[in-house]
Amino acid sequence: MSRPVITSIDDLKRLYRRRAPRMFYDYCESGAWTEQTFRENTSDFSDIRLRQRVAVDMSDRSLRSTMIGQDVAMPVALAPVGLTGMQRADGEIKAARAAEKFGVPFTLSTMSICSIEDVAEHTSAPFWFQLYTMKDQDYLRRLIERARAANCSALVITLDLQILGQRHKDLKNGLSAPPKLTPKTLADLATRWSWGLEMLGTKRRGFGNIVGHVTDVGDPASLMSWTAEQFDPRLDWSKIAQIKEMWGGKVILKGVLDPEDAKMAAKMGCDAIVVSNHGGRQLDGALSSIRMLDPILQAVGGQTEVYLDSGIRSGQDVLKALAMGADGTMIGRAFVYGLGALGEAGVTAALEVIAKEMDTSMALCGKRDIRDVSRDILMVPEDFSGRWQAP
Ligand code: GLV
Repeated sequence: MSRPVITSIDDLKRLYRRRAPRMFYDYCESGAWTEQTFRENTSDFSDIRLRQRVAVDMSDRSLRSTMIGQDVAMPVALAPVGLTGMQRADGEIKAARAAEKFGVPFTLSTMSICSIEDVAEHTSAPFWFQLYTMKDQDYLRRLIERARAANCSALVITLDLQILGQRHKDLKNGLSAPPKLTPKTLADLATRWSWGLEMLGTKRRGFGNIVGHVTDVGDPASLMSWTAEQFDPRLDWSKIAQIKEMWGGKVILKGVLDPEDAKMAAKMGCDAIVVSNHGGRQLDGALSSIRMLDPILQAVGGQTEVYLDSGIRSGQDVLKALAMGADGTMIGRAFVYGLGALGEAGVTAALEVIAKEMDTSMALCGKRDIRDVSRDILMVPEDFSGRWQAP
């Protein structure tokens, strides 16, 4: 079968939709409750326009940059995404390999299917490990030790998911890893035979970082059960400081959406923060990440690197975030679409699409180096960040 021509992230999304079981497509493609924040994360990007410039030398262009001091082929890291190994067999390994070959960081989620050790064994570049803080302190300590033993180069602590925002479809679909075989899931899986064949060929079908390491969970296959029973709802800044101390390496704090929280994060001396609302999957009604970027940049005043995640579906979106002042970005769904569509080659395709869009758009804005883009390539509505005021 010849490979379809892929020209956009949307092409990958269409293929992914046809190939992945409905339950996992829905898991990826949902926001919390009314999905307002999920929708606005992407639609707010189109409120910002790019400024076309002409008659400038556009030879010798570069997308290269650094993130937390690491060289990157472009400032786009793969975000941590739970259950990635259910979108495609061994999905985390495939995505990590694509990221390594492309030269961008890969972040492994605590709620991954492939374990830290699995990914380390099948890659050579150090990856970042995303940590959810659990009530079980012993387990937490061991998880951090495992990330250290696997040579992970940063700990990404997620701050916006101590309890789970409700995504209606996951409840209706009975989301679980592996999927439970009911008449509804069987009917769906029957039309997803290539997914199923690949899944039969792997042993990795449960939550690899936690099954066998934690006990007392009602249903070990359910993300809802894990979060409700294990995640620590008492997480506060002092606990974050303790974890940072325990880890002793680079720390990225993900899920900051408010200037006050950004100041706290910067004060702790983290290496980067990620302006994120978890892809619109947590607090429905929160403003989009791109709208909150400017006030957060002003609040931290260069004390820490600032990355943006939530809503990026193109190289133009990355360019806009960087021109607004972000030091880097993260993509979640955009790479999952690629993975579900074409496996490792699809993740590579997603990265290539984004790089090409970013490179061409940067040139048409009159710039040759991604590290030189700034506000002067943007046209931003006057009230873009200021229409909503916190008290
Ligand atoms: C977990 O990270 C989720 O958003 O489902």
